[in-house]
Amino acid sequence: MSTLVWFDGEIRAAHEPVVTALDRGLLVGDGVFDTCVVVGGRPFALRRHLARLVRSAQLVGLPEPPVDLITEAALELAARLDGPTGRLRITWTAGPSAGGPGRGDGPATLLLTAQSETVLHPAPGTDPARARTAVVVVPWVRNENSPLVGAKSTSYAENVLAIEYARRHGGTEAVLANTRGELCEGAASNVFVELGGELLTPPLSAGCLAGVTRELVLEWGTAAGLPVREATVPLGTFRSAAHAAVTSATRGIVPVDVLDGRELRPGPLTARMQAVFAERAVQDLDP
Ligand SMILES: Cc1ncc(COP(=O)(O)O)c(C=O)c1O
Repeated sequence: MSTLVWFDGEIRAAHEPVVTALDRGLLVGDGVFDTCVVVGGRPFALRRHLARLVRSAQLVGLPEPPVDLITEAALELAARLDGPTGRLRITWTAGPSAGGPGRGDGPATLLLTAQSETVLHPAPGTDPARARTAVVVVPWVRNENSPLVGAKSTSYAENVLAIEYARRHGGTEAVLANTRGELCEGAASNVFVELGGELLTPPLSAGCLAGVTRELVLEWGTAAGLPVREATVPLGTFRSAAHAAVTSATRGIVPVDVLDGRELRPGPLTARMQAVFAERAVQDLDP
């Protein structure tokens, strides 16, 4: 696995220091980011990920990220990776601090990192190496009224703690409800559940991130005639579901095989959706 860093117009080695010790992204998690998968040396769905980065920045009041510059840097980094698959992350922070918790008026910080990773799915939507996931519902909730809802914020510690909780309880992904007791999302994924012959995912009003993979599943699934839609799902209903899946850019569509210690079989709609996703994704790398 190799890591490349893009900062200030140049590709650098991973160990080279780039941001200052005063960067607000580092000090107070004041920044946004986005991550996409690299397939065949090209970032997948880059335009959608950049559109979300812009939305994230708007939501938290950061300046608008320079999309053209980021696109150029992302394409260059992805092409320079030493393997065909990997992940590419764009980080945009509030820049150097003026001291104290409030923002200064310094320039924002832009940083891109790319890592080659052979375990990533060769075609988005399919993940033979990480074909299943054990999920654990954590005791904390997502606040659907938080000012960070909808933003992919570098204030990620709640997700880190949720994943650590899941790991201590034998899982690989954590699932959170919201304050209303509805299914919300995974710590780093969106959640789908098969109920009554439909593939359902919570609406954005549940407080979940607008996942790019979730969006493509809804669009491509509907276009293929699959019964997939947004719906409010009580957490208790999710807990007793027969089939569920999580989605993310780096994992694709992954059936849940263990839910809070209970074994699940991959659902038939999930399998059909994986096939549709894999087929559409190879037709267009930037859908
Ligand atoms: C909290 C959260 N929800 C959902 C997702 C899935 O989004 P995407 O499909 O764009 O990777 C992520 C991705 O990391 C995430 O961090």
